[in-house]
Amino acid sequence: MNQQKLSETANAMVAPGRGLLAADESTGTIKKRFDKIGVENTEPNRRAYRDLLFTTPDFEKHTSGVILFEETLFQSSLAGQPFPKLLESKGVIPGIKVDQGAKPLPFGKPEETITEGLDGLRERLVKYREAGARFAKWRGVIVIGNGAPSYNAIQTNAHALARYAALCQEADIVPIVEPEVLMDGDNTAETNEEVTTWVLKEVFQQLYYQNVWLEGIVLKPNMAVSGIKCAQQASVQEVAERTLRMLRRCVPSAVPGIAFLSGGQSDELATAHLDAMNKVGNLPWKLTFSYGRALQAAAQKAWSGKNVEAGKAAHLHRAKMNGLASLGKWDKSLEKAA
Ligand code: 13P
Repeated sequence: MNQQKLSETANAMVAPGRGLLAADESTGTIKKRFDKIGVENTEPNRRAYRDLLFTTPDFEKHTSGVILFEETLFQSSLAGQPFPKLLESKGVIPGIKVDQGAKPLPFGKPEETITEGLDGLRERLVKYREAGARFAKWRGVIVIGNGAPSYNAIQTNAHALARYAALCQEADIVPIVEPEVLMDGDNTAETNEEVTTWVLKEVFQQLYYQNVWLEGIVLKPNMAVSGIKCAQQASVQEVAERTLRMLRRCVPSAVPGIAFLSGGQSDELATAHLDAMNKVGNLPWKLTFSYGRALQAAAQKAWSGKNVEAGKAAHLHRAKMNGLASLGKWDKSLEKAA
Protein backbone atom coordinates (compact mmCIF):
# COMPACT_ATOMS: atom_id res chain seq x y z
CA MET A 1 0.00 0.00 0.00
CA ASN A 2 1.36 3.36 -1.06
CA GLN A 3 -0.07 5.66 1.60
CA GLN A 4 1.12 8.85 -0.05
CA LYS A 5 -0.59 7.98 -3.33
CA LEU A 6 -3.82 6.97 -1.58
CA SER A 7 -3.89 10.12 0.49
CA GLU A 8 -3.21 12.35 -2.53
CA THR A 9 -6.03 10.74 -4.50
CA ALA A 10 -8.52 10.82 -1.61
CA ASN A 11 -7.80 14.49 -0.94
CA ALA A 12 -8.07 15.37 -4.63
CA MET A 13 -11.48 13.65 -4.76
CA VAL A 14 -12.84 16.00 -2.11
CA ALA A 15 -10.96 19.16 -3.15
CA PRO A 16 -12.83 22.40 -2.28
CA GLY A 17 -15.47 23.37 -4.83
CA ARG A 18 -15.50 19.98 -6.52
CA GLY A 19 -17.25 16.65 -6.09
CA LEU A 20 -17.92 13.33 -7.77
CA LEU A 21 -20.22 12.46 -10.65
CA ALA A 22 -21.70 9.00 -10.07
CA ALA A 23 -22.22 7.78 -13.64
CA ASP A 24 -21.81 4.11 -12.73
CA GLU A 25 -25.34 2.89 -13.40
CA SER A 26 -25.30 -0.77 -14.28
CA THR A 27 -26.80 -1.78 -17.62
CA GLY A 28 -30.05 -2.62 -15.82
CA THR A 29 -30.21 0.68 -13.91
CA ILE A 30 -29.43 2.90 -16.91
CA LYS A 31 -32.29 1.13 -18.72
CA LYS A 32 -34.69 2.49 -16.10
CA ARG A 33 -33.33 6.03 -16.70
CA PHE A 34 -33.43 5.67 -20.51
CA ASP A 35 -36.97 4.25 -20.43
CA LYS A 36 -38.17 7.51 -18.85
CA ILE A 37 -36.82 9.57 -21.76
CA GLY A 38 -37.65 7.11 -24.54
CA VAL A 39 -34.06 6.13 -25.34
CA GLU A 40 -33.27 2.53 -26.25
CA ASN A 41 -30.75 0.89 -23.90
CA THR A 42 -28.06 -0.07 -26.42
CA GLU A 43 -24.28 0.01 -26.11
CA PRO A 44 -23.93 2.90 -28.63
CA ASN A 45 -26.58 4.95 -26.77
CA ARG A 46 -24.90 4.38 -23.40
CA ARG A 47 -21.59 5.44 -24.94
CA ALA A 48 -23.11 8.54 -26.56
CA TYR A 49 -24.76 9.54 -23.28
CA ARG A 50 -21.59 9.14 -21.20
CA ASP A 51 -19.73 11.05 -23.93
CA LEU A 52 -22.18 13.93 -23.46
CA LEU A 53 -21.47 13.99 -19.72
CA PHE A 54 -17.67 13.81 -20.00
CA THR A 55 -17.33 16.34 -22.84
CA THR A 56 -19.50 18.97 -21.14
CA PRO A 57 -17.32 22.11 -21.32
CA ASP A 58 -16.13 23.25 -17.89
CA PHE A 59 -17.76 20.42 -15.91
CA GLU A 60 -14.26 19.63 -14.67
CA LYS A 61 -14.22 22.92 -12.74
CA HIS A 62 -16.80 21.40 -10.39
CA THR A 63 -16.06 17.69 -10.82
CA SER A 64 -13.06 16.02 -9.18
CA GLY A 65 -13.80 12.49 -10.37
CA VAL A 66 -16.30 10.26 -12.13
CA ILE A 67 -17.45 6.82 -11.00
CA LEU A 68 -17.71 4.62 -14.09
CA PHE A 69 -19.46 1.35 -14.75
CA GLU A 70 -17.08 -1.38 -15.97
CA GLU A 71 -18.37 -1.14 -19.54
CA THR A 72 -17.58 2.61 -19.67
CA LEU A 73 -14.06 2.16 -18.28
CA PHE A 74 -13.18 0.15 -21.40
CA GLN A 75 -15.13 2.29 -23.92
CA SER A 76 -13.86 5.23 -25.97
CA SER A 77 -15.38 8.67 -26.50
CA LEU A 78 -17.16 9.45 -29.78
CA ALA A 79 -13.89 11.13 -30.83
CA GLY A 80 -12.06 7.86 -30.23
CA GLN A 81 -10.22 8.52 -26.95
CA PRO A 82 -10.53 5.95 -24.15
CA PHE A 83 -12.87 7.47 -21.54
CA PRO A 84 -10.34 7.23 -18.66
CA LYS A 85 -7.78 9.09 -20.81
CA LEU A 86 -10.32 11.77 -21.74
CA LEU A 87 -11.16 12.32 -18.05
CA GLU A 88 -7.51 12.42 -17.02
CA SER A 89 -6.75 14.99 -19.72
CA LYS A 90 -9.32 17.26 -18.04
CA GLY A 91 -7.92 16.69 -14.55
CA VAL A 92 -10.88 14.50 -13.59
CA ILE A 93 -10.01 11.26 -11.76
CA PRO A 94 -11.54 8.08 -13.19
CA GLY A 95 -13.06 5.61 -10.73
CA ILE A 96 -14.94 2.33 -11.03
CA LYS A 97 -17.91 0.66 -9.37
CA VAL A 98 -16.68 -2.81 -8.39
CA ASP A 99 -19.55 -4.37 -6.47
CA GLN A 100 -21.79 -6.79 -8.32
CA GLY A 101 -25.08 -5.75 -6.84
CA ALA A 102 -27.25 -6.23 -3.76
CA LYS A 103 -28.74 -9.75 -3.53
CA PRO A 104 -31.38 -11.06 -1.11
CA LEU A 105 -29.89 -11.64 2.36
CA PRO A 106 -30.47 -15.22 3.53
CA PHE A 107 -32.62 -15.21 6.69
CA GLY A 108 -32.85 -11.42 6.67
CA LYS A 109 -35.94 -9.28 7.15
CA PRO A 110 -38.09 -8.61 4.06
CA GLU A 111 -36.17 -6.63 1.37
CA GLU A 112 -32.81 -6.94 3.15
CA THR A 113 -29.79 -7.50 0.94
CA ILE A 114 -26.10 -8.32 1.02
CA THR A 115 -23.83 -6.83 -1.65
CA GLU A 116 -21.81 -9.35 -3.66
CA GLY A 117 -18.57 -9.11 -5.64
CA LEU A 118 -15.65 -10.03 -3.37
CA ASP A 119 -14.64 -13.24 -5.15
CA GLY A 120 -11.98 -12.43 -7.73
CA LEU A 121 -11.95 -8.75 -6.71
CA ARG A 122 -8.18 -8.69 -6.10
CA GLU A 123 -7.57 -9.70 -9.75
CA ARG A 124 -10.21 -7.34 -11.13
CA LEU A 125 -8.68 -4.40 -9.27
CA VAL A 126 -5.35 -4.97 -11.03
CA LYS A 127 -7.14 -4.88 -14.38
CA TYR A 128 -9.10 -1.72 -13.46
CA ARG A 129 -5.96 0.05 -12.27
CA GLU A 130 -4.23 -0.73 -15.55
CA ALA A 131 -7.21 0.78 -17.36
CA GLY A 132 -6.79 4.01 -15.37
CA ALA A 133 -9.08 3.69 -12.32
CA ARG A 134 -7.66 5.46 -9.25
CA PHE A 135 -10.60 4.91 -6.92
CA ALA A 136 -13.46 2.44 -6.57
CA LYS A 137 -16.97 2.24 -5.17
CA TRP A 138 -18.92 -0.45 -3.31
CA ARG A 139 -22.48 0.12 -2.11
CA GLY A 140 -24.04 -1.73 0.79
CA VAL A 141 -27.80 -1.22 1.14
CA ILE A 142 -29.78 -1.01 4.39
CA VAL A 143 -33.57 -0.79 4.44
CA ILE A 144 -35.84 0.60 7.16
CA GLY A 145 -39.26 -0.92 7.89
CA ASN A 146 -40.95 -4.32 8.39
CA GLY A 147 -38.58 -5.10 11.25
CA ALA A 148 -35.51 -3.98 9.29
CA PRO A 149 -32.73 -3.29 9.69
CA SER A 150 -31.52 -6.44 11.38
CA TYR A 151 -28.06 -6.62 12.91
CA ASN A 152 -27.45 -9.44 10.43
CA ALA A 153 -27.86 -6.99 7.50
CA ILE A 154 -25.79 -4.25 9.11
CA GLN A 155 -22.95 -6.51 10.21
CA THR A 156 -22.64 -8.54 6.99
CA ASN A 157 -22.74 -5.44 4.78
CA ALA A 158 -20.22 -3.59 6.97
CA HIS A 159 -17.94 -6.63 6.90
CA ALA A 160 -18.12 -6.83 3.10
CA LEU A 161 -17.47 -3.08 2.78
CA ALA A 162 -14.33 -3.43 4.91
CA ARG A 163 -13.10 -6.46 2.94
CA TYR A 164 -13.56 -4.50 -0.29
CA ALA A 165 -11.84 -1.42 1.16
CA ALA A 166 -8.81 -3.42 2.31
CA LEU A 167 -8.42 -5.05 -1.12
CA CYS A 168 -8.61 -1.63 -2.81
CA GLN A 169 -5.93 -0.12 -0.61
CA GLU A 170 -3.69 -3.12 -1.21
CA ALA A 171 -3.98 -2.25 -4.93
CA ASP A 172 -3.34 1.50 -4.33
CA ILE A 173 -6.96 2.30 -5.22
CA VAL A 174 -8.95 4.62 -2.92
CA PRO A 175 -12.13 2.91 -1.74
CA ILE A 176 -15.35 4.89 -1.61
CA VAL A 177 -17.11 3.22 1.30
CA GLU A 178 -20.85 3.54 0.66
CA PRO A 179 -23.31 2.26 3.24
CA GLU A 180 -26.67 3.54 1.96
CA VAL A 181 -29.68 3.63 4.27
CA LEU A 182 -32.56 3.88 1.79
CA MET A 183 -35.02 6.76 2.01
CA ASP A 184 -38.00 5.06 0.37
CA GLY A 185 -39.94 4.18 3.55
CA ASP A 186 -42.41 6.11 5.72
CA ASN A 187 -39.99 6.64 8.61
CA THR A 188 -39.07 10.02 10.11
CA ALA A 189 -35.70 11.74 9.77
CA GLU A 190 -35.17 10.94 13.46
CA THR A 191 -35.40 7.21 12.71
CA ASN A 192 -33.06 7.62 9.75
CA GLU A 193 -30.53 9.34 12.03
CA GLU A 194 -30.75 6.50 14.57
CA VAL A 195 -30.36 3.76 11.95
CA THR A 196 -27.58 5.52 10.04
CA THR A 197 -25.69 6.09 13.30
CA TRP A 198 -25.85 2.37 14.03
CA VAL A 199 -24.71 1.52 10.50
CA LEU A 200 -21.78 3.96 10.53
CA LYS A 201 -20.64 2.73 13.97
CA GLU A 202 -20.52 -0.82 12.62
CA VAL A 203 -18.81 0.19 9.36
CA PHE A 204 -15.98 1.99 11.17
CA GLN A 205 -15.62 -0.93 13.59
CA GLN A 206 -15.17 -3.34 10.66
CA LEU A 207 -12.76 -0.96 8.88
CA TYR A 208 -10.70 -0.92 12.08
CA TYR A 209 -10.68 -4.72 12.48
CA GLN A 210 -9.57 -5.14 8.87
CA ASN A 211 -6.74 -2.56 9.10
CA VAL A 212 -8.19 -0.16 6.57
CA TRP A 213 -6.20 3.07 6.54
CA LEU A 214 -8.78 5.79 7.21
CA GLU A 215 -6.66 8.59 5.73
CA GLY A 216 -7.03 6.84 2.36
CA ILE A 217 -10.79 6.36 2.06
CA VAL A 218 -13.77 8.52 1.11
CA LEU A 219 -17.05 7.86 2.93
CA LYS A 220 -20.25 8.01 0.87
CA PRO A 221 -23.22 8.05 3.24
CA ASN A 222 -26.87 9.04 2.98
CA MET A 223 -28.10 12.17 4.73
CA ALA A 224 -30.54 11.89 7.65
CA VAL A 225 -33.64 12.63 5.57
CA SER A 226 -37.29 11.68 6.11
CA GLY A 227 -38.52 8.63 4.21
CA ILE A 228 -40.21 9.65 0.98
CA LYS A 229 -43.56 8.31 2.25
CA CYS A 230 -43.33 10.08 5.62
CA ALA A 231 -46.13 12.62 6.05
CA GLN A 232 -43.89 14.98 8.04
CA GLN A 233 -40.88 15.94 5.88
CA ALA A 234 -37.94 17.37 7.83
CA SER A 235 -36.80 20.88 6.84
CA VAL A 236 -33.45 21.56 5.17
CA GLN A 237 -32.13 22.88 8.47
CA GLU A 238 -33.26 19.78 10.39
CA VAL A 239 -31.67 17.42 7.86
CA ALA A 240 -28.41 19.38 8.02
CA GLU A 241 -28.37 19.34 11.84
CA ARG A 242 -29.19 15.63 12.13
CA THR A 243 -26.69 14.65 9.46
CA LEU A 244 -23.85 16.65 10.98
CA ARG A 245 -24.61 15.27 14.44
CA MET A 246 -24.50 11.66 13.33
CA LEU A 247 -21.34 12.20 11.27
CA ARG A 248 -19.58 13.92 14.18
CA ARG A 249 -20.49 10.97 16.40
CA CYS A 250 -19.37 8.29 13.96
CA VAL A 251 -16.72 9.45 11.48
CA PRO A 252 -13.14 9.87 12.74
CA SER A 253 -11.42 13.09 11.69
CA ALA A 254 -8.71 10.94 10.04
CA VAL A 255 -11.13 10.48 7.12
CA PRO A 256 -10.32 13.22 4.58
CA GLY A 257 -13.76 13.59 3.10
CA ILE A 258 -17.39 12.63 2.94
CA ALA A 259 -19.16 12.63 -0.44
CA PHE A 260 -22.91 12.16 -0.10
CA LEU A 261 -25.20 10.12 -2.32
CA SER A 262 -28.46 11.80 -3.35
CA GLY A 263 -30.61 8.70 -2.90
CA GLY A 264 -33.78 9.98 -4.55
CA GLN A 265 -33.81 13.56 -3.22
CA SER A 266 -34.85 16.20 -5.74
CA ASP A 267 -31.98 17.95 -7.52
CA GLU A 268 -32.45 21.16 -5.62
CA LEU A 269 -32.93 19.60 -2.18
CA ALA A 270 -29.75 17.54 -2.56
CA THR A 271 -27.92 20.80 -3.29
CA ALA A 272 -29.66 22.75 -0.50
CA HIS A 273 -28.83 20.09 2.13
CA LEU A 274 -25.14 19.98 1.19
CA ASP A 275 -24.97 23.76 1.16
CA ALA A 276 -26.64 24.07 4.58
CA MET A 277 -24.09 21.72 6.13
CA ASN A 278 -21.14 23.53 4.58
CA LYS A 279 -22.50 26.88 5.72
CA VAL A 280 -22.04 25.61 9.31
CA GLY A 281 -18.30 25.37 8.57
CA ASN A 282 -15.39 24.31 10.79
CA LEU A 283 -15.91 20.59 10.13
CA PRO A 284 -13.21 17.93 10.60
CA TRP A 285 -13.67 16.55 7.06
CA LYS A 286 -14.50 17.95 3.62
CA LEU A 287 -18.19 17.55 2.74
CA THR A 288 -19.06 17.22 -0.92
CA PHE A 289 -21.29 15.38 -3.37
CA SER A 290 -21.15 12.07 -5.17
CA TYR A 291 -24.52 12.31 -6.82
CA GLY A 292 -26.01 10.11 -9.50
CA ARG A 293 -29.64 11.05 -10.03
CA ALA A 294 -29.41 14.59 -8.58
CA LEU A 295 -26.63 15.45 -11.07
CA GLN A 296 -27.99 13.66 -14.10
CA ALA A 297 -31.81 13.71 -14.09
CA ALA A 298 -32.05 17.19 -15.64
CA ALA A 299 -29.36 16.39 -18.22
CA GLN A 300 -31.10 13.17 -19.24
CA LYS A 301 -34.42 14.93 -19.68
CA ALA A 302 -32.92 17.79 -21.68
CA TRP A 303 -30.98 15.35 -23.89
CA SER A 304 -33.72 12.76 -24.44
CA GLY A 305 -31.49 11.04 -26.98
CA LYS A 306 -31.41 14.06 -29.32
CA ASN A 307 -30.44 17.42 -27.88
CA VAL A 308 -26.78 17.07 -26.87
CA GLU A 309 -26.18 20.78 -26.25
CA ALA A 310 -29.21 21.10 -23.96
CA GLY A 311 -28.06 17.99 -22.08
CA LYS A 312 -24.60 19.47 -21.56
CA ALA A 313 -26.03 22.81 -20.38
CA ALA A 314 -28.26 21.04 -17.82
CA HIS A 315 -25.34 18.90 -16.63
CA LEU A 316 -23.04 21.91 -16.23
CA HIS A 317 -25.68 23.83 -14.28
CA ARG A 318 -26.15 21.07 -11.67
CA ALA A 319 -22.40 20.46 -11.40
CA LYS A 320 -21.88 24.17 -10.80
CA MET A 321 -24.67 24.42 -8.19
CA ASN A 322 -23.28 21.45 -6.27
CA GLY A 323 -19.73 22.79 -6.55
CA LEU A 324 -20.97 25.97 -4.85
CA ALA A 325 -22.82 23.90 -2.23
CA SER A 326 -19.58 22.08 -1.42
CA LEU A 327 -18.26 25.52 -0.39
CA GLY A 328 -21.45 26.63 1.37
CA LYS A 329 -21.84 29.32 -1.31
CA TRP A 330 -25.04 28.19 -3.06
CA ASP A 331 -28.19 30.27 -3.04
CA LYS A 332 -31.67 29.39 -4.28
CA SER A 333 -31.74 32.53 -6.44
CA LEU A 334 -28.93 31.05 -8.58
CA GLU A 335 -31.33 28.32 -9.69
CA LYS A 336 -33.89 30.81 -10.92
CA ALA A 337 -31.28 32.95 -12.64
CA ALA A 338 -30.29 29.90 -14.70
P1 13P B 1 -27.71 8.63 -6.28
O1 13P B 1 -27.08 9.97 -6.04
O2 13P B 1 -28.66 8.63 -7.44
O3 13P B 1 -28.27 8.03 -5.03
O4 13P B 1 -26.56 7.67 -6.77
C1 13P B 1 -25.35 7.70 -6.11
C2 13P B 1 -24.73 6.37 -6.16
O5 13P B 1 -23.64 6.20 -6.62
C3 13P B 1 -25.49 5.25 -5.58
O6 13P B 1 -24.66 4.14 -5.44
